Order: sequence, then C-alpha cells, then structure tokens
Amino acid sequence: MAKMWEGVTAAKTDAIADDFNSSIGFDCKMYKQDIQGSLAHAAMLAKCGILTISECEAITEGLGSILEDISSGKLAFDPTAEDIHMFVEAELTARIGDVGKKLHTARSRNDQVAVDLRLYLRDETETILGQLRELIGVLLDQAKAGKNIIMPGYTHLQRAQPITFAHHLLAYGMMFERDMGRLRDALKRMNVSPLGSCALAGTTYETDRLFTAKRLGFDGISENSIDGVSDRDYCVELLAAFSLIMTHLSRFSEEIILWSSWEFKFVELSDAYTTGSSIMPQKKNPDMAELVRGKTGRVFGDLMGTLTVLKGLPLAYNKDMQEDKESIFDAIETVAHCLAVFIPMVATMKPIPENMYRAAQKGFINATDLADYLVGKGRPFRSAYKTVGQLVARCIALGTVLDELPLEEYKAADELFDADLYPAISLETCVARRNSLGGCGPESFERQVRYLEERL
Ligand code: ARG
Repeated sequence: MAKMWEGVTAAKTDAIADDFNSSIGFDCKMYKQDIQGSLAHAAMLAKCGILTISECEAITEGLGSILEDISSGKLAFDPTAEDIHMFVEAELTARIGDVGKKLHTARSRNDQVAVDLRLYLRDETETILGQLRELIGVLLDQAKAGKNIIMPGYTHLQRAQPITFAHHLLAYGMMFERDMGRLRDALKRMNVSPLGSCALAGTTYETDRLFTAKRLGFDGISENSIDGVSDRDYCVELLAAFSLIMTHLSRFSEEIILWSSWEFKFVELSDAYTTGSSIMPQKKNPDMAELVRGKTGRVFGDLMGTLTVLKGLPLAYNKDMQEDKESIFDAIETVAHCLAVFIPMVATMKPIPENMYRAAQKGFINATDLADYLVGKGRPFRSAYKTVGQLVARCIALGTVLDELPLEEYKAADELFDADLYPAISLETCVARRNSLGGCGPESFERQVRYLEERL
C-alpha cells in the first residue's frame, strides 16, 4: 500500500522493514472502534466548523460503508497496510475522493490508536465481566445443591477440619467476585478519552474534546495531552486483573485435577470435558483443567511483557507501544477462552458425597470435638487431649474411625464417655456448629449466598 507519510523521506522503505513495522495483522481487530472514533471525530470537526456539513456527511457515509463491507467480509484487510488506521483512511479516500483526506485534521494516529484501544478493551472487558457473573452463578447453583455434602477441609494438603463442599466452592465465588470488582475499577479509570491530544501537544484548531468524549461514551477526557497518548496504565491494570483471574482459575483447576484422581475421587467430570488416552483404555483425563492451569503462564507473560515494554520509554509516543496490543489481545482471548470451557465444566461436575465423607471420617478431624466432649463432662482439657490421642491410636490399630469405635472401647479409656458422644462428634455436628461469621455452618452459608447474589 502507498505510504501516506511521504514528506521528508521518500517513503520507500525496504519490504522487510515494512512488514516488521506493520501492525495490521493484529490491530485489524479494532476496525469497528477505529471507525467509531473517526465518526465521532468527523462529527466534532463539523460541529466546530472545521468541516462543512456536506463534507462530514460524505465522510460519515464512506465510513459507514467501509464498516459494513468489513463486517460482511466484502472488504478484506490489506496485509501491506501499515496499520488499521492507515487502511481505513486510505479506503475512505479511495471511496469518497479528496474529502476523505480531511478526516485526519486535528488528529494524529497517536491519539487515534489510544482511543481505539480504550474502546476495544472496554467492550471486551464487559464480555469477561459477563462470563465471571455466569461462573459465580454456576458456583452458587453447585453450592446450593451441595450444601449438605461434607468433605475434609485441608491445610498443608492434610485433612484438617470437616467443611461442606458448598463452603469450599463459595471460597472461589468470593475470589471471582473480587475479580469483577478489579475489572470494574480498571474500567472506571480507563474510561477517559485521549482523542484530541493529537500527536502529543494538543492542537491549534478550535476543537471540542468533550463532544467526542461524550459521543464515544467516555466519562471524561485525559487532562494532559502527553499523558493522553503515552498512557498504557489501563493495559497493565487489566493484565494484572486478568493474571489474578487466571491464578484463581488455576488454583481451582489444580483442585479439580486432584479431586478427579483415583486417590481422591471427590468429583466426576463430565465426559464432555475430559479426554481419553490413546493407549490406556481406563483413562479419563482432566485436560481442560490442566490447560487452564497451563495457560495461566501466558497471561503472566503478557503482563510482564507489557510492563517491560513501558518501563524505559521516554514521553510521549514511541513505536515500542505498538507491542501493547498483541499482549493485551492474547491475555483477553486466553481468559475468555478459559472461562468459556471452565464454566460448563464446573456446571456439569458431579460431586461424589460418599467419597468426600469417607475421607473426612478417616482424617480423625473430629478429634478436637471429642476432647471438648470430655471437657464438657468435667475432665480437664489436657487429660481429655491425652485420652483422645490414645483413642486415635486405638482406631488406627483397629482400622476404624472415632465415629465407629465401640462404646466399650471408649469406656475403657474414660468412664465419663457415654452413648451421647456419637452425635457430639458426628461430622454433621462439627459442621453445623461452626456458624461463626464466615464459618462453614449453615447460617453462614446462607449469608454468603446472599452476599454473592446481591453483588451479581
Ligand atoms: N500502529 C501504531 C500503534 O499501534 C499506531 C500509532 C502510530 N503512530 C506513529 N506515530 N507511528 O502504536
């Protein structure tokens, strides 16, 4: 494609250099936003008397037809164009003639790309927010169905205390709710218009930045034109928020992988979200969860890459900044892709309550409650603690659990034991009594459900 910047240079760059310089291969994704920005800019120029009404109409019509033709596939991107901005402008001039060349008055590609990227990321972030909302909804459904399923809670991956499956799932619900908050927060700061900053210093034309900002749905304008074209904080903020979403998805994936192993068998994943082995017929592999865990690395890389690109840049625009797009696009697509498979995988995941219950029993995780029972009958805690330690050892020797050890065994250890010890140490009792705020008991569960539902 012919160069528009022929001036001090002859605009005859080497083909390899042209290719190296070109960003159309990836910034073509922003064609809608580029046209949207240009339409607002043209309307502003007309309002300020810089374009005539009929010039503005011609430009508006031309841009509209380009948008239509790209969307319908009738117009293909020219891979030799320098970027999406040059492509659309050249196409406009080809369609409507010289008046197309007036569109770039009081504008630079520097503020143009900055506005396009903000618009694009604003739209994409809304999509991710919708997916997170859906994921929390799925977690709430699973939690409500599993509110009486008892499982071991872990510390150090050692069985620690009985909890419910629902309580465990809602922990993730809280993480994803915070992730939504981070995205909304980044959106707020991001939603200011850099358009009108021009190359870096503003313009001598009497333009109206507030007009374009309003028309494009921004809450305000960037107050400093140098900052307007140099700022990519919003990319970093979004990438950091995406990295945390991936961290949460990855931790959850790790648990789903463990839970679906034969060692745990706490859950069964739907066949729709597992794969078989090419050699071992018994295998059902949690590939989706593993891939989500694996793809987390890419998003962290996108964050690190962007921070590194920005860290040494003098003000204002530098071509290095063209590197922002592939990272942020990759991150956003990876997160969207991971969520798209993760949501139905969790929705169709079947808990296996018997296995969870058995695992909870085997960990002697009600030993503290048994000691407390003796304390309730008048034994000092230290003595009770010792007696329970001996009873645990007895259970191990007999291959049983505290809930099933016969009463005679208990009586032999301490005459204060009676049949009421069994309900006192049942896993159900242990869970049901933990109704402290945020605990795993049923009252706390209802409160957590309300908390999340109010925020969706
Ligand atoms: N393709 C460029 C980018 O993505 C657009 C801005 C070009 N500006 C310039 N002064 N060369 O950053």
